[in-house]
Amino acid sequence: MTLPQRVHLTEVGPRDGLQNEQQPVPVDIKVGLCERLLAAGVRQLEATSFVSPKWVPQMADAAQVMARVPRLPGVTLSVLTPNIKGFEGALAAGAHEVVIFGSASEAFSHRNINCSIAESIERFRPVAQAAQAAGMRVRAAVSVAFGCPYQGEVPIASVVDVVERFRDLGCDEIGIADTIGTGTAEHVKRVLEAAARVFPLDRLSGHFHDTYGQAITNVYASLQVGVARFDTSIAGLGGCPYAKGATGNVASEDVLYLLNGLGIETGIDLDAMVEAGQWISAFLGRKSMSRAGNALAARRQSLAQAAA
Ligand code: HMG
Ligand code: MG
Repeated sequence: MTLPQRVHLTEVGPRDGLQNEQQPVPVDIKVGLCERLLAAGVRQLEATSFVSPKWVPQMADAAQVMARVPRLPGVTLSVLTPNIKGFEGALAAGAHEVVIFGSASEAFSHRNINCSIAESIERFRPVAQAAQAAGMRVRAAVSVAFGCPYQGEVPIASVVDVVERFRDLGCDEIGIADTIGTGTAEHVKRVLEAAARVFPLDRLSGHFHDTYGQAITNVYASLQVGVARFDTSIAGLGGCPYAKGATGNVASEDVLYLLNGLGIETGIDLDAMVEAGQWISAFLGRKSMSRAGNALAARRQSLAQAAA
């Protein structure tokens, strides 16, 4: 079995992570988090969402955040855009990539973006066209690909159907998302293999929430089928406001620890990410969800005490 030699990580903490926070997080903190992630070597950063503030109040400051996130050479700043209004915000804010987000179940599509799957594709079509015309990258996310909180099981054929629709919109990358974290390793392999029959494997990515503790295993299972792109979230922050009870994404620090152990390059510095994860967790007033992050931070602290 040959694993990829290099893996591309998209950091989604400032978006998927913070969107789920009940208390408003100040713009200064959001920007401070983005700065720390970029300084650690993150090269694709999902900074915020241009969605309806009535639906996700935490993302209402998208334009202010984007105005202050540093632009660095080689860095792609991504934002979620559910419709053309969101795209206009993204364009004005100077985003490099838009993320259109659909669903493999009708029920989740209605709950998350208030329309059917077919309607969502028609809503995304002008977004994709406008983004392509503006030279922006277009990424798509297929939610609830491994199980839906409203429908239950999701057939693989439904995932493949949405992947084909996004492919036909000319998406550069398609993320297969385990929104509620119920997927297990062999299921993940089957879904990704099926998706790879209709869309290039090197442009597929995995997005795994960790609700059932399976996310890191699911990353490894994905590597085994050749997937080399993943969304990860600093300190394991995250969830979807329309998937109640779902916890955060797989923690960036945990994925980096795994990849470093496998000798797989990412270009991201684990120590700097641990610091960023501890920093945002301290602000939020709770322990980081990253096991590797907490272990490395504790080790650093005990080494510092021993040296003092
Ligand atoms: P709607 O209510 O059907 O839309 O919502 P509407 O067109 O009737 O608009 C309602 C109001 O929102 C209007 O304001 C619009 O102007 C405004 P009013 O006239 O009443 O004052 N509005 C907007 N404002 C700012 N930016 C916009 C925008 N669009 C409308 N882009 C809509 C439909 C899609 C807008 C709504 O359902 C929505 O924003 N949903 C987003 C939900 C969301 O962000 N969910 C979390 C992100 S997805 C996720 O986390 C999953 C992912 O991580 C992968 C995974 O894990 O599965 C990606
Ligand atoms: Mg998500």
